[in-house]
Amino acid sequence: MACTEVVLGPLTLKNPVMPASGTFGYGEENAGAFDPGELGAVVAKSVRLEPAPGNPPPRLVETPAGLINAVGIPSEGVDAFIRDQMPLLRQTGTVVIVSIAGSTALQYGELAARLSDVPGIDALELNLSCPNIGHGLPFGQDPGLLAEAVSAARGNTGLPIIAKMSPNVTDIAAMSKIALDAGADILAIANTVNAMVIDIWKRRPVLGNIAGGLSGPAIRPVAVRNVWRVYEQVKAPIIGSGGIVTWQDAVEFLLAGARAVAVGVANFINPNAMKEIIQGIQGYLDSQGFESVEDIVGLAHTIGRSQ
Ligand SMILES: Cc1cc2nc3c(=O)[nH]c(=O)nc-3n(C[C@H](O)[C@H](O)[C@H](O)COP(=O)(O)O)c2cc1C
Repeated sequence: MACTEVVLGPLTLKNPVMPASGTFGYGEENAGAFDPGELGAVVAKSVRLEPAPGNPPPRLVETPAGLINAVGIPSEGVDAFIRDQMPLLRQTGTVVIVSIAGSTALQYGELAARLSDVPGIDALELNLSCPNIGHGLPFGQDPGLLAEAVSAARGNTGLPIIAKMSPNVTDIAAMSKIALDAGADILAIANTVNAMVIDIWKRRPVLGNIAGGLSGPAIRPVAVRNVWRVYEQVKAPIIGSGGIVTWQDAVEFLLAGARAVAVGVANFINPNAMKEIIQGIQGYLDSQGFESVEDIVGLAHTIGRSQ
């Protein structure tokens, strides 16, 4: 059987599959469908420094091939997270990635400091799609804010840092370089795509927050292209994400250059999705004669063309 272990910068994962933050709770939300310890990693939903209620409803709206969410990162705050959720995450028996969300660059630093010495955390993921309180613009869409947020976290932790990049930029490779220069070790490519829906009868936006982030199959080709481009331009380990529903989708991301994949809304539709994706990747490697999942990372580039 082919080896499914992947080295993701400073992390070693037993297989390349993990949940996307916010779609798997703290590992308890798959309702016992399978043991979260079978995953390459668990990724917790983003935690804030202080308790926060999130956005006004409605927070979700379905679209033809995806879901727009404007949840707004409700959080019980970092103290309650450490007290109530870390014991659950610690028990999963796999790599634990904690996602953090700040409203200022300093908050990323403070969150990193608070979480650094908590036992059982293997890496911090920076959710850079939160708006900066002064600026209004998400950290991941402004080069200066991006560098400030990543540097603030880097300055306060020795844990590996994953920068979860925004696709809502002109050049995601250039932004990724900024995140790496500021101290990120791994890139997550990418978060949701800006989107909105208008109710034609009420003649106003459906979401309480007006706009939100599109996820699901609709964004997969966008995300694959972004992984492809970042792989070519930036030499850093990539977690690919956006619209992965089946193992075939996951293999596409690996061939584009991702070393691991994160599965989001597919978990809402099929609680066994990630388990089936792990099995499907294994089956693909075996049937195609590959010895390791590492053998197919970026393989499409050897015959593909840039752009
Ligand atoms: C309901 C919901 C909540 C989410 N919460 C978070 C979050 O807390 N932090 C984060 O970084 N991303 C969050 N995301 C984005 C996902 O992690 C993922 O990047 C996105 O959904 C794209 O992947 P997908 O198409 O496989 O769903 C959320 C997405 C959804 C649908």
